[in-house]
Amino acid sequence: MGKPHIRSDEGTAPKGASYSTKSFRAALPEPIRSKGRPAPSSVNPHRLKRRRRARFGRRGKGKVKAVRLIVTGGAGFIGSSFVRHLWRERPDWEIVNLDLLTYAADPESLAAATAASPKHTLVRGDIADADLVQSLFPADAVVNFAAESHVDRSIVKPGLFLRTNVVGTGVLLDAARKFGVGRFLQVSTDEVYGSLGAEGRCSEETPLAPRSPYAASKAAADHLCLSYHHTFGVPALVTRSSNNYGPRQFPEKLIPLLVTNALEGSPLPIYGDGLNVREWLHVTDNCRGILAALERGRPGQVYNLGGGEERTNLEVAGEVLRLLGATAPLIVHVPDRLGHDRRYALDSAKALAELGWRPQFSFGEALAGTVAWYRENEGWWRRIKSGVYREYYARMYPSCVS
Ligand code: NAD
Ligand code: DAU
Repeated sequence: MGKPHIRSDEGTAPKGASYSTKSFRAALPEPIRSKGRPAPSSVNPHRLKRRRRARFGRRGKGKVKAVRLIVTGGAGFIGSSFVRHLWRERPDWEIVNLDLLTYAADPESLAAATAASPKHTLVRGDIADADLVQSLFPADAVVNFAAESHVDRSIVKPGLFLRTNVVGTGVLLDAARKFGVGRFLQVSTDEVYGSLGAEGRCSEETPLAPRSPYAASKAAADHLCLSYHHTFGVPALVTRSSNNYGPRQFPEKLIPLLVTNALEGSPLPIYGDGLNVREWLHVTDNCRGILAALERGRPGQVYNLGGGEERTNLEVAGEVLRLLGATAPLIVHVPDRLGHDRRYALDSAKALAELGWRPQFSFGEALAGTVAWYRENEGWWRRIKSGVYREYYARMYPSCVS
């Protein structure tokens, strides 16, 4: 399969996509009725549910048309990339994007085209707010990206992770059950399988063994989704991807942290011996996999989406330095993360067999494109790094702050 051209940006919204950061009540979308379609209350709800379901899961039947989709966490790194992916690939889909706009959100990443349009509405709010969540339904499908996503923060403040990642997912599932959806896709992670030794890969059948509060909260959410499928018939499915990288990733995660620190000439903090291994996946490949699972995946199923490219953290740091023409003395070994998982690796054969998905980006090329993006968009990350981030950084990396 040919490698796609790596752009330093991922494109813009189609003509007419809208962007709004109004308070969530004010930004609530119009009721889900288009001209000529009867009000939901006047239609047999069971027929509506069946109709919504029938749009999905038609394997090999092409794109699903005219969907009203609730995306949560769609102002975050992967969620916003997914929204931009839909703008390119499914421009006729209506997207209601529910995001709390936490520190990790980047609503400007959705602001590329701001002309008024009903196709994309950003609603500021919490997935754990049942009234708000229910007010966004009915919908044909839900894709849940919203989460507290950083392992180090889960070690400092686990409670927040339980609330958003577990309770929040439960609230979304309750609404999906109440109103009926065609699909509920939970965006999950390889971390739920726990830590591997030097050999082996995890398939979807591998028992879950999460070891950080973050991973445990994601595993709990996965179990909830599958339980709502088995118990209540909610057409829920789960994708579990490996580590993502690409433009606009918050610089608390390894790759953007290394790249932006190197651009500043600051130390590159590497935990422990630096030999922990991650399997890297370009964010656009993850978005392609999520869309394929949403349209063609089977309810009740889990799909691993692995990048297939394993690297130690030291190898990643070395590659970043090489791409920037900087030198190894910038690397500093700092105390290890508590409970640091040694290695993650996924067997993604099921996604290839059932969804026809495989990653298209190679790590070497796409890392170069990613590094170029951070080099060309200094304003973006300098703005983040000049705010409360500085306190976070000083707390996490005291030995790197002069
Ligand atoms: P991120 O931290 O960049 O974005 C998370 C988004 O969720 C933010 O926009 C934030 O404002 C929003 N959010 C947080 N709490 C919320 C709440 N209570 N209600 C509504 N919105 C809320 O995360 P990301 O890296 O884009 O990850 C997205 C999803 O993918 C997460 O579920 C994560 O567990 C999963 N995942 C991430 C990776 C990765 O490498 N980054 C890999 C596998 C899976
Ligand atoms: O595996 C998927 C997961 O990948 C996602 O579910 C998480 O949301 C995402 O945060 C990520 O978790 P990791 O803990 O693997 O990613 P992180 O970028 O935090 O760290 C990657 C590796 O780099 C890990 O072994 C820890 C190490 N590291 C990280 C940081 C931030 C360092 O050595 N130094 C650092 O400063």
